[in-house]
Amino acid sequence: MENKPVKPITSAQEESADNLIDYTLRPQKLAEYVGQETAKENLKIFIEAAKTRNESLEHVLIFGPPGLGKTTLAHIIAKEMNSNIKVTSGPAIERTGDLAAILTNLADGDILFIDEIHRLNKSIEEVLYPAMEDYALDIIIGKGPSARTLRLDLPKFTIIGATTRISGLSSPLRDRFGNVFRLNFYSPAEIEKIIHRAAKILNTEIDEESLQEIAKRARQTPRIANRLLKRVRDFAQVKKDGKIDKAIAQEALDLLAVDDRGLDNIDRQFVKTLIEKFSGGPTGLNTLASSLSEEMDTIEDVIEPFLLQIGFINRTPRGRVATELAYRHLNIEPPANWQDKLI
Ligand SMILES: Nc1ncnc2c1ncn2[C@@H]1O[C@H](COP(=O)(O)OP(=O)(O)OP(=O)(O)O)[C@@H](O)[C@H]1O
Ligand SMILES: [Mg+2]
Repeated sequence: MENKPVKPITSAQEESADNLIDYTLRPQKLAEYVGQETAKENLKIFIEAAKTRNESLEHVLIFGPPGLGKTTLAHIIAKEMNSNIKVTSGPAIERTGDLAAILTNLADGDILFIDEIHRLNKSIEEVLYPAMEDYALDIIIGKGPSARTLRLDLPKFTIIGATTRISGLSSPLRDRFGNVFRLNFYSPAEIEKIIHRAAKILNTEIDEESLQEIAKRARQTPRIANRLLKRVRDFAQVKKDGKIDKAIAQEALDLLAVDDRGLDNIDRQFVKTLIEKFSGGPTGLNTLASSLSEEMDTIEDVIEPFLLQIGFINRTPRGRVATELAYRHLNIEPPANWQDKLI
């Protein structure tokens, strides 16, 4: 078993150090939210329509890999609707009573943001369905033959659910969402725009080339782009006058062990393991997970989406397969039959 590498700077998952920068850099309005044009267009219409009719918004589900802007979008929706937003998460709601307490404390038009909604347990989901559909809560009072159900009316609230794995949601739950948005990885130009905006907010001078350098390594993910910018900015402050130019950016980024495709140690180890230990696959997820001492969920939700996005791996019915691009990136000659493995 290999040593588990330390969590790299490009981990898309949220770290506690992100909180402050995330907060200052988080766009507040739809107009400031870069990219995701389809989602934005649709949202604009839904929000306008709900506001015109003076109704609460239909329930919204946002899904996509970590760091792409789900939480940000949820807060923007609340702002654009002029609604209060309460925040909770799937694992935080342990008992049906917890959910009942949250729901009965909402007011008309309020938004309840449930992060990691795929981690709600089944008994909670069953209380949530009628609540979402009929704005009512069925509470059972008493036990045995004398038990009866009491129906509590709830305010007209909106649930915004966020998840990194839509497949983890039961289909009845998914069906209760009137709007479902998938967030995609960002284009290089969009990431550059995000870095440009962040640099402005942080009062940092940065040239075009450095923007591109940072963007290249940001895994097409805003959270990582902001985090890299912050590290390069620290570096520029210590080493120079605080201005970011290409030489400074490159030096700083090289120290962070992120390569020019945005791959970090964990990504590289994943691809290397697949290629060197399993001759490029096809290899099952659980075999890879135990070989890397990683959770299967982490591999599926955090590592693989980006590697799939840049075409370094493929998912086949028989398992994961490394593509020619991955071999070339690691400077390993691909086997003659690599294409056969894709079938
Ligand atoms: N479209 C965007 N435009 C500009 N900045 C963005 C955008 N999306 C995200 N960001 C920045 O990236 C940071 C991370 O985004 P956010 O916390 O919303 O991701 P997430 O999808 O909720 O991640 P997780 O799955 O870990 O909860 C935000 O604080 C914000 O600064
Ligand atoms: Mg989030």
